[in-house]
Amino acid sequence: MSDMGIYVFSGTGNTYRCAAALQEKLAGYGEDAQIHRIEEENGAPLEKDLVLCYPVHGFNAPRIMIRFCKRLRNGTGNIWFLKTSGEPLRLNDSSSAQLARILKRKGYKVKGEFHYVMPYNMIFRHSDEMASLMWRTAQERVPDAARQIAEGKGRPAKPGAASKTMAGLCRIEHGFFPVNGRLFRVDSKHCIKCMKCVKDCPVSNIRYEDGRFRFGGNCTGCTRCSFGCPAGAIHIGILDFMRVNGPYDFEADPEKAVPGRYCRKAYEQYFSAGAETESK
Ligand SMILES: Cc1cc2nc3c(=O)[nH]c(=O)nc-3n(C[C@H](O)[C@H](O)[C@H](O)COP(=O)(O)O)c2cc1C
Repeated sequence: MSDMGIYVFSGTGNTYRCAAALQEKLAGYGEDAQIHRIEEENGAPLEKDLVLCYPVHGFNAPRIMIRFCKRLRNGTGNIWFLKTSGEPLRLNDSSSAQLARILKRKGYKVKGEFHYVMPYNMIFRHSDEMASLMWRTAQERVPDAARQIAEGKGRPAKPGAASKTMAGLCRIEHGFFPVNGRLFRVDSKHCIKCMKCVKDCPVSNIRYEDGRFRFGGNCTGCTRCSFGCPAGAIHIGILDFMRVNGPYDFEADPEKAVPGRYCRKAYEQYFSAGAETESK
């Protein structure tokens, strides 16, 4: 059995895509790292070294990741983070800080992290061409991440003051999602009763009882239910104005991608930059 495990939380598949690409490249270095999905209560990892993968939520790691790290037993292994976010801003740099603190207290060594920009599943919809360019860029950079991990190297994040402040302020979202989750509702005019949302919710927060959908108080804010709804029928509480529905076409032509006005410079810099380099 490999002594490395890849633990992934992914609301709508972006992070999973990147984690699967990493797994494949690690195999090229003889690392048979298995992917485990972080959903509800995972058993304790059996592996010594862990790659923890998550989407940035409100400049932080999702609540489910914090809970996962708190449940981990003490260990001496190496940790790498793989995170995805919709925008390339340095404000996302502090998102792993809380996880890193928890893990260091438990004895783990945080070796480094890799950040891939992937299309937004909330806030606004990127074009399919942009999504495709993001995915191609991630695929180009994952081999270097695999090499660093295989060599036991990496570069931990060095968040600036602005990103620390932003992450601190936005940590409120960990308490906000369980409350906002209760405000989700299903538009019965459009709902086709496929029950996909009930089956897919990673924290079993959606039930269908007595002919009605009921949303509990355990929402982790991943948007898997609303993003994946084939009828676009799920409203996500007070965040509904930022809802994004439906999968991206990652086969679209990346050469036709045009960054919009929002954060244009940051996207252009991200696409033209080299892969993250490691330190000892
Ligand atoms: C609740 C929520 C908050 C988010 N906050 C941020 C953020 O602070 N910064 C960012 O760049 N992207 C943010 N995003 C976008 C996701 O990080 C991005 O789309 C990610 O690739 C989704 O990965 P997944 O498909 O694995 O869930 C947010 C998405 C959600 C659902």
